[in-house]
Amino acid sequence: MDSRDRKAAVTKVAVTLKDVPIAGLNATAKKLETAAARLSSRRTRDMLPGKIETKRLVLRAPILGDATALEKLANNQKIYDMLARLPHPYTRRDAMFFIGTFSQRAEERCYAVTLDEAFIGVMSFHYAPGHAPELGYWLGEPHWGKGLGTEAANGLIEAAHATGQYATIEARALASNIASCRVLEKAGFVRTGEHPAVGGNHIGQAIASFVLEQKR
Ligand SMILES: CC(C)(COP(=O)(O)OP(=O)(O)OC[C@H]1O[C@@H](n2cnc3c(N)ncnc32)[C@H](O)[C@@H]1OP(=O)(O)O)[C@@H](O)C(=O)NCCC(=O)NCCS
Repeated sequence: MDSRDRKAAVTKVAVTLKDVPIAGLNATAKKLETAAARLSSRRTRDMLPGKIETKRLVLRAPILGDATALEKLANNQKIYDMLARLPHPYTRRDAMFFIGTFSQRAEERCYAVTLDEAFIGVMSFHYAPGHAPELGYWLGEPHWGKGLGTEAANGLIEAAHATGQYATIEARALASNIASCRVLEKAGFVRTGEHPAVGGNHIGQAIASFVLEQKR
């Protein structure tokens, strides 16, 4: 290519770029940013182990065999009242959707919490673009108050820290949910503030935000 051809080619590219509307470029950049964020959170998610063992519990992927216990335990108004996103009443269909679809999503990492091989609840991370992984959990009511929530949360946090990819973990709980706030505080989370919920099950109620920075 001689210098005249090169100049013509450069001019052509410049004209082509000039013709692309700025809004289109911005939309493409946004899409690329979202795709990169999804890829990065998928990498973070996939660093976690398939199985986590604590003193009394085993955390592992939800399986079809959990459906009956999941439906029975999750169909509880007291649990629904504390979670931002849980269907109620909780049906067999919801249980199957959770196991087969929800827990497979790129932005979720869900563990079935099991005690003596029986399903007793869920511990999870949610990955939203631009946010640190967010810890979420619930246990079936017959298992409350025995230190199992604390044990399961600490098990998952320890496994997450071992990957080196979870320097910051976020969590939220209704400010009135003393048990959940205590689970977080006992795991080392620091309360960073409170704001009224703008969506989900808790509109208008005070939500406490927590953050856990991994010690170096
Ligand atoms: C939150 C939850 C997982 C806690 O699990 P758990 O196994 O009952 O909790 P633990 O036994 O480990 O107790 C943790 C702390 O909370 C305290 N606690 C437990 N239940 C409590 C209650 N009803 N009221 C006040 N404090 C309570 C315990 O005393 C303990 O604190 P301590 O060690 O200072 O005494 C469980 O209650 C649950 O699933 N609740 C419904 C769903 C939910 O709230 N999920 C979290 C949404 S953010």
